Amino acid sequence: MYHIGGAHCGEHVAAGRRGVINGQLGRRPAASIRPVIGQPIPIFSRRESWLKYYWVPQAIAFGYYQLSWLLYVIRPAWSYRLNADFEDHAEHEYMEFVAEHPGWETEPFESAFSGDYGRFDSLADLFRQIGHDERVHKQESLAQATASRFR
Ligand SMILES: [Fe+2]
Repeated sequence: MYHIGGAHCGEHVAAGRRGVINGQLGRRPAASIRPVIGQPIPIFSRRESWLKYYWVPQAIAFGYYQLSWLLYVIRPAWSYRLNADFEDHAEHEYMEFVAEHPGWETEPFESAFSGDYGRFDSLADLFRQIGHDERVHKQESLAQATASRFR
């Protein structure tokens, strides 16, 4: 799972501590996402994977940011629509991620960030909440796209 999009990550950062944690899932080049879920999930281990899992996603995010900016200059609604599509994709990816890991339904969510991000009965609930956050982001982008047409 990888969260693509500079604008997307920036939105999470703007959303506060909860967003920062969420944004770290996609941007951390570390070999695990331990701070978020309490247990390390190996992302990659071989040196050549840095190209595939860090540099290529960084290049894609950079290109996405430039495209989003250009669309915003030409017609803001197009940029918001693009972001809404990414948010929709992210929501579905998180939900599939949970579905692919049924053991997370009984795995407790324990993290130093839970005081800021929220307390959840299970790791599955945590990721469902993150997926729900993506839906909210999509709805906000769609509202902005509509509003920008009337400015
Ligand atoms: Fe988002």
